[in-house]
Amino acid sequence: MYSKIITDLREKYGKRLAILGHHYQSDEIIAHTDLAGDSLELARQIDKLEAEYIVFCGVHFMAESAAIVRKDNQKIYIPDAKAGCVMANMAPADLVDKVLTKILNESGRKIIPLAYVNTPAAVKTVCGKHGGSVCTSANAVKMMKWALDQGDGVLFLPDKNLAFNTADKLGIPEEKRLLLDIRKNGENLDVSETLDKQLLVWPGLCAIHQRFKLSQIENLRIQHPGCKVVVHPECPPALVQAADGDGSTSYLIKYVSESPAGSTIVVGTETNLVYRLAQLFPDKKIIPLSVSFCSSMAKITEKKLAELLQNIETADFEDVSDEIREPAKVALERMLKVCA
Ligand code: 13P
Ligand code: SF4
Repeated sequence: MYSKIITDLREKYGKRLAILGHHYQSDEIIAHTDLAGDSLELARQIDKLEAEYIVFCGVHFMAESAAIVRKDNQKIYIPDAKAGCVMANMAPADLVDKVLTKILNESGRKIIPLAYVNTPAAVKTVCGKHGGSVCTSANAVKMMKWALDQGDGVLFLPDKNLAFNTADKLGIPEEKRLLLDIRKNGENLDVSETLDKQLLVWPGLCAIHQRFKLSQIENLRIQHPGCKVVVHPECPPALVQAADGDGSTSYLIKYVSESPAGSTIVVGTETNLVYRLAQLFPDKKIIPLSVSFCSSMAKITEKKLAELLQNIETADFEDVSDEIREPAKVALERMLKVCA
């Protein structure tokens, strides 16, 4: 029933409407999208779209990022504004600003903030104002290298796993990294400990990827000799090191699609995507590292999408104030330029 409503309304609005979906959305949502992608691909598409109504099926920071870069005649919608990424909520903008200001003032060093795209718009604003930028899992290596070249060190937030996995790829020595203690609203932070560090890391994580265990990789390698293992870089470093490859959701899809028929591939990421890959590639054996659904992504349902489309002309849309938008846009555009 909801499927028919959505199909009819897509037909009614035609090119005036675009539905975008992140790879972690359920199959029933993906079936209604004009474009499915990883965070970077979706962010890149917004200003190329002609549609005036853009519906973002994903988590809130993705719709908010789209609202930052949208054109004046475009409106961005999300079927459930409460679909908030738990990791993004681990770095509230006022705390990020407080911690960064304390480091800058007390150290006198030029520390460049680099925010994973999984952050609220106001955090991107802080990055834009302080010469920093944004990255996704698809370009974290390039962006961390860029940020290191801009100053004396980098504050990476909020995902500690992506930070350390990226630092491993860039060969940043362990003794040059520091996991920040931001407890007691930032009061615990001892800036003297940061002085000789290249990489300051916010202690955030994604519970969906943190759940995976090294022992699961070891057991699956015993059960499926010769299998390949690929994981998302939000997984802890021990798992990334034990895997045959790691990368964004699009990387994982590409890895599976390019593997020869008959391959067995263990995939460590959100389960909707892994099950979809198993369906898309029946000539390969695709095994989830373990079952781990993102409950935030799952808040977007066909029912909510149908209801939004039925009221799209009067529905609330995502917007950010100019004060937030302008510096946040600077941060996002720096990324798009560095990774053009
Ligand atoms: P990608 O950028 O790889 O699509 O990942 C986004 C995300 O939220 C992963 O948990
Ligand atoms: Fe956020 Fe993790 Fe869900 Fe990705 S999988 S949207 S990082 S909670």
